[in-house]
Amino acid sequence: MPEIWVKPERMPRHVAIIMDGNGRWAKKRGLPRALGHRAGVEAMRAIIRESSDLGVEVLSLYAFSTENWKRSTEEVGVLMGLLLEFCGREVENLYRNNVRIRILGDVERMPEPQRTALKNAMERTASRTGLQLNFAINYGGRDELRRAAQKLCEQALSGALRAEEVTEETLRQALDTAGQPDVDLVIRTSGEERMSNFLPFQTAYAELQFPKILWPDFGINEYHAALDDFAARDRRFGGRSEK
Ligand code: IPE
Ligand code: IPE
Ligand code: MG
Repeated sequence: MPEIWVKPERMPRHVAIIMDGNGRWAKKRGLPRALGHRAGVEAMRAIIRESSDLGVEVLSLYAFSTENWKRSTEEVGVLMGLLLEFCGREVENLYRNNVRIRILGDVERMPEPQRTALKNAMERTASRTGLQLNFAINYGGRDELRRAAQKLCEQALSGALRAEEVTEETLRQALDTAGQPDVDLVIRTSGEERMSNFLPFQTAYAELQFPKILWPDFGINEYHAALDDFAARDRRFGGRSEK
């Protein structure tokens, strides 16, 4: 168990990570991109474990966007293969560590056998009460808002919801992150400074960090540095400074 050095009230409840730079990591070493993605999975395992040990409530990891289908068939195949391998190898482990897995994104439109593996991972860990681990897979923020709008329309048409009852809270509860706190901290590795369609509603007041390090090189020390940086920030939410 690591020592918790950050004051609990200064710890982010919800951390969201855009795990970027696997391809460049491989290229720098003259390796195929597939090995960059494989190294990325290892980095991810370490960050999941550390988040769980530190008592982070929610960790959202951007693993595959709705736009990533544009990549070559070969690369999409590698990523889908790694996803299955991860589910096969890690779900029991995560279960034992009290981690609950949730998928953000359109699982129904995932190909088989990935869809079944993801649903099984969610079902298997549904009773777990420790770290809430969100995997964003086939996820796009605009697509999430579209699906939320669709749910609300269906409720309205069935008579269960009136237009004036659509509050920020009803919309929040129709999102893939229903029931979870908003994102406090976004970390995007690799030096790119953009959101790439990740959690647009939930990150509205998040603190953003763009460390210049490729995802497979992002380890525990870099994670701690990110949490330290977050703890030192002054969040005002439109109000006045606490300082
Ligand atoms: C992130 O690494 C992983 C996914 C998007 C699945 P990239 O594959 O985007 O790596 P770069 O950006 O090409 O270096
Ligand atoms: C964002 O990375 C998606 C994931 C990390 C899964 P990309 O590498 O796909 O984003 P862009 O294309 O550079 O914006
Ligand atoms: Mg990238």
